[in-house]
Amino acid sequence: MTQRIQLPETLEGKTILIAGAAGFVPSTVSEFYLKLGAKVIGLDNFITGSKSNIELLRKYKKFEFHECNIYEGLPDFTDIDIDYVFSLASPASPIDFGLIPMEIMRVNSEGTRLLLELSLEKGARFLEASTSEVYGDPEVHPQTEDYVGHVSTIGPRSCYDEAKRFAEAMTMSFHKKYGLETRIIRIFNTYGPRMRPNDGRVIPNFINQAMRNEDITVYGDGSQTRSFCFVTDLVDAIHNVMFSDDPTPFNCGNSDEYTILDTAKFIVDALGSSSKIVFLPLPKDDPKRRRPDMTKLQSVSDYSPKITFEEGIRRTTEFFKSL
Ligand SMILES: NC(=O)c1ccc[n+]([C@@H]2O[C@H](COP(=O)([O-])OP(=O)(O)OC[C@H]3O[C@@H](n4cnc5c(N)ncnc54)[C@H](O)[C@@H]3O)[C@@H](O)[C@H]2O)c1
Repeated sequence: MTQRIQLPETLEGKTILIAGAAGFVPSTVSEFYLKLGAKVIGLDNFITGSKSNIELLRKYKKFEFHECNIYEGLPDFTDIDIDYVFSLASPASPIDFGLIPMEIMRVNSEGTRLLLELSLEKGARFLEASTSEVYGDPEVHPQTEDYVGHVSTIGPRSCYDEAKRFAEAMTMSFHKKYGLETRIIRIFNTYGPRMRPNDGRVIPNFINQAMRNEDITVYGDGSQTRSFCFVTDLVDAIHNVMFSDDPTPFNCGNSDEYTILDTAKFIVDALGSSSKIVFLPLPKDDPKRRRPDMTKLQSVSDYSPKITFEEGIRRTTEFFKSL
């Protein structure tokens, strides 16, 4: 049985490897661990990440960065002890699925394998960032971790969804065959500062359209739902899972559920925008409902999202205005 999670007060003296450190979620995770006193080694090839996130992390003395494509080989870490490995490198936006499907499949398969092998060699604990997309267009609502999903192997999202399912399977295989300490998180829609303004995900789309008073594009009739988690709350969930003793997947997110139409209206009102809402056809395989069942993580930790949607939208809008 999973024990109640005990979080460390400091990570002074520990070394953490973060693959994808220049990205939205991974750079926020990196900063969190630097503040907890760890040495953080970041890896990234900037395919979707940003150099400004690395510049921001460089203000911490214990941050080290290597530019590399992780599926082509990792830097030489022979003389370095590594305690924790976070596998967070992967493009995650639907616009990337059509543009760079090979890169997505390779980083989640070959890249993840190299990180798992490094973890084994170093005796490090490994965490794989999977996704709610492993549930596909779910027939079970809200989604619990034991739901096995409803995913197309050949649809427009399959390069990402199936690559993440493979990454989960490989992570469990390393755990079962070699006894490697592994953790798996299934991240639900997360938003916040450091997202790319044009990355095609719903919150940056709506905020940027509303900021410019342009039409807000809603796909379908807007009745499909999503649950949005502010990035610092997600980091709190990730931290809890890394320090749990359970190798099976944990949902990570915020279980408040909104229709896309209500989300658009909320953002228009919050920004005092004159944007009109327009409707476009729903893309193929777009999930109709998404809400994490957070019982598993909440039954072993104090995890509870702290940032309201209103506050999260305010902070994210401030970030986009500062660009
Ligand atoms: N943000 C979300 O809502 C969400 C939801 C589910 C899962 N996730 C997962 O969380 C992780 C981070 O997502 P994000 O939203 O911050 O995306 P992001 O694109 O901002 O960050 C990913 C980072 O990985 C880097 N990267 C990609 N391929 C690489 C490679 N081959 N070598 C080195 N670096 C590489 C990118 O350049 C980028 O900096 C991803 O694994 C993603 O699948 C995110």
